[in-house]
Amino acid sequence: MSLNLAVEAISELASLDPLIALLAGDIKCVNAMILERLASEVPVIPELAGHLIAAGGKRIRPMMTLAGARIAGGSPHAIGLATAVEFIHSATLLHDDVIDQSHLRRGRETANALWGNEASVLVGDFLFARAFELMVEAGDIDVLGQLANASARITEGEIKQMAIAGQPDTAKADYLDVITGKTAVLFAAAAAAGARLAGANSNDITVMYDYGMQLGLAFQIMDDAMDYAVSSSAMGKNAGDDFTDQKITLPVILAWQGGDANDRKFWQRTMGDGDFADGDLATAQAILTRHDALNQSITMAGDYANAAIDALTRLSSASADQAELISALAAAARFSGARQT
Ligand code: IPE
Ligand code: IPE
Ligand code: MG
Ligand code: MG
Repeated sequence: MSLNLAVEAISELASLDPLIALLAGDIKCVNAMILERLASEVPVIPELAGHLIAAGGKRIRPMMTLAGARIAGGSPHAIGLATAVEFIHSATLLHDDVIDQSHLRRGRETANALWGNEASVLVGDFLFARAFELMVEAGDIDVLGQLANASARITEGEIKQMAIAGQPDTAKADYLDVITGKTAVLFAAAAAAGARLAGANSNDITVMYDYGMQLGLAFQIMDDAMDYAVSSSAMGKNAGDDFTDQKITLPVILAWQGGDANDRKFWQRTMGDGDFADGDLATAQAILTRHDALNQSITMAGDYANAAIDALTRLSSASADQAELISALAAAARFSGARQT
């Protein structure tokens, strides 16, 4: 099948299922390796990390790595590298829930709620360190460099987010900079590192990086829209947290920009000054609806998802047996731009 035909095979489906189906065997190995590498003589480490990891999660980032490797014909080190990527993600979740003071994750009480902030931060550090061991075992210095850089940029994104918290007049460009760092770069690096490890050519490494980046932006924009629109039980994490955390996300930026003096007074008192009263979240949701801010955010997420799919059309090595994989990657991008969980 030619590249054009492979691209034509790209489905309209918005779902992770095709990718999950293709990579099920590999993900089983990743889950086994996660358990194996959580082992420690200090019981609280496997207990606390196991609590988070056994609760599930979509495993979308390690699937990026596995798919990136498959694009280039696979690598015996792909499982280890995908495990490292999920460890990096898990470490950032442990740290993020401390920073955001979150009490619900993957439908369970958070580790910080159960074991406290100190243990959560330290176990997060442990997972980062284990991730680096796994990356060293993968034996490719450029792959190690790319994921080390992504890890630094996650922290930069979280810190920049802290710096702009409480400023409802934040520019869209600053928000995009935050979500690029805290979320999209890991998707990009995960996909590109898989391709690099398996010996992909430089064009395809770049394509997988771009694909992951655009998908990651769509993914976080949807996360930020969901925070105002989806119930806690459906998300498995607390809805409305961004509002009370004074975290300025795309829906609020759009509503601020289109808002009148009254709207802006409301955003300033609540998200600006942190002065909250009963019913404020419902008022915020009503203002967002009046400005169509959630729909506009979802449209933007869809645009990034399309850009991710567009990137896939530039793969140089697409062949018959990859048409299915490319189609599954496209469906994963559409999922990221339209997800409700
Ligand atoms: C949560 O990521 C953190 C964000 C970047 C929004 P996921 O939604 O991938 O979390 P899990 O791993 O599936 O729980
Ligand atoms: C994602 O940000 C955290 C990282 C990528 C480090 P959020 O704070 O929005 O994620 P959730 O909503 O807690 O999963
Ligand atoms: Mg959070
Ligand atoms: Mg969120």
